[in-house]
Amino acid sequence: MKAIELRNKYLNFFKSKGHSIIPSSPLVPENDPSVLFTTAGMHPLVPYLLGEVHPAGKRLTDYQKCLRTDDIEEVGDTGHLTYFEMMGNWSLGDYFKKESINYSYEFLTKELNIPVEKISVTCFEGDSDCQKDTESAEIWESLGIPKSRIYYFGKKENWWGPAGTHGPCGPDTEIFYDTGKEKCSEECNPSCNCGKYLEIWNNVFMQYNKTLDGKYEELKQKNVDTGLGLERTTMVLQGKSSVFEIEIFKPIMDKLDELSIVKNEKSFRIIAEHLRASIMLIADGVKPSNIEQGYILRRLIRRIIRHLKNVGINANLIKDLLVLNIDILKDMYPELVKKQEEILLVVEAEKEKFTKTLENGEKEFLKALNRAKSEGKTTIDGATVFKLYETYGFPPEITEELAKENDVKLDLKEYEVLYKKHQEKSRQGAEQKFKGGLAERNEETISYHTATHLLHKALRMVLGEHVAQKGSNITVERLRFDFSHPAKVTEEELKKVEQIVNEQIEKKLDVVCEEMSIEDAKKSGAIGLFENKYGDIVKVYTIGDFSKEICGGPHVKNTGELGKFVIKKEEASSAGVRRIKAVLTNN
Ligand code: ALA
Repeated sequence: MKAIELRNKYLNFFKSKGHSIIPSSPLVPENDPSVLFTTAGMHPLVPYLLGEVHPAGKRLTDYQKCLRTDDIEEVGDTGHLTYFEMMGNWSLGDYFKKESINYSYEFLTKELNIPVEKISVTCFEGDSDCQKDTESAEIWESLGIPKSRIYYFGKKENWWGPAGTHGPCGPDTEIFYDTGKEKCSEECNPSCNCGKYLEIWNNVFMQYNKTLDGKYEELKQKNVDTGLGLERTTMVLQGKSSVFEIEIFKPIMDKLDELSIVKNEKSFRIIAEHLRASIMLIADGVKPSNIEQGYILRRLIRRIIRHLKNVGINANLIKDLLVLNIDILKDMYPELVKKQEEILLVVEAEKEKFTKTLENGEKEFLKALNRAKSEGKTTIDGATVFKLYETYGFPPEITEELAKENDVKLDLKEYEVLYKKHQEKSRQGAEQKFKGGLAERNEETISYHTATHLLHKALRMVLGEHVAQKGSNITVERLRFDFSHPAKVTEEELKKVEQIVNEQIEKKLDVVCEEMSIEDAKKSGAIGLFENKYGDIVKVYTIGDFSKEICGGPHVKNTGELGKFVIKKEEASSAGVRRIKAVLTNN
């Protein structure tokens, strides 16, 4: 079965069970600046899992385009992907464990004809937050999965979410396919990474909302959120041992084999994977740049070019590879056909840039090499390695290759120190962009910035802890704040919020900034952007004992400087996101 056939079978199966098919959201979340990419099917559905009514009903199904960048360095083995498609089905306070497990079982064994003997499952073993999930285990047993293939694990294995720091989450039951490999040891079980057991489906019972202070509150509705990895399940159904052997990648892998001088399977996989991810990103509007989503795209394209070089393929052939790849993908994503020209142009321009960079970088390296030699040194200093990275985009592994070829060492320790400093700067830059309007940094914008923190906290007090910042924009005249909330905020609630903010201003609270690791910030109960991956030291701004938030600053020293806080407008910003405009006045 091809991937597209599996996708259609899945959607039709859930349609026959009363689910509405909803479209995939874009790879770049529309209203959530706290994450770079959509990483799971549930991501665009968070407001509905929290209780907002979805226009398509209580039973939904879709395929969702996802990108996960945590494992970018792992790409090249048999299964890791950055871009992948997640098939999902949801119950928004409708059916729960019994139906969900029954549907999954029926789909796998009846629609896909996977033999029951090939299936093992895991369930949540229970802890102080949530009881042992014997209910799911009993359902599995009733369907014919023997106790010996039902495993219990703790939060690390059998709990999913929240997608960020807080939000819907719950225990899950995971479905594994037994590849038939020998057990790697007596203890080998589905939590083992040896390759015997492959996780194909995850059914999450989202009955909790994790609050920012780490508590698990029962949600008002019990939801189901499932995710089935399309590529991986296709691989299983086709009896292949690597995703790169399925029809989505195979023609590209063959082409690379044909064109290359050096046969390096790992490089082929990296090229094939990154080509597809780059195509999907550009089609969703991402352009290469040095920040955020654009930086990930840049990294992907640069890695393609480096690996083409590795296997002796002329980088100019990237265009032919893209055309071939779009042709392979066009049945699954018809929108790519219209975007082909743009995709080719974007990649071509980035390739040109990087090729020049590589040439210039090599020259720079040779200069540094000669300098070191003339001074009788056998090590090139970290500042040079860093300059090659920052100015010429040379990842240290390229510099290392050059160093090896020229028989010198690199001071990578010093490089690491410089790199960390640089990351911290980028992180602060990103935070400021997120806060909006802070480039001006005058008295007014700084005051509004502090008022935004007060507003954020006050909203959480009045409306609930589900309120999370979705965006902010500050000018010298007003603040604008977008936040998650499923309903219109009433006049009364707005008055209360206003009153709380003004009380904090009248209390003349000190605003204190501390720097700490992201873990410590989380432990301290700070709210804000935990998910950016730019560095591990963050600034936490504390306002009296009222608010604690991760933020790049700057802020006023004391809330007494703010004047009077007045909410001017409350309106919808998008589905599940409200917008408040407010001003500070002097009387
Ligand atoms: N949200 C769940 C996952 O990503 C289904 O595995």
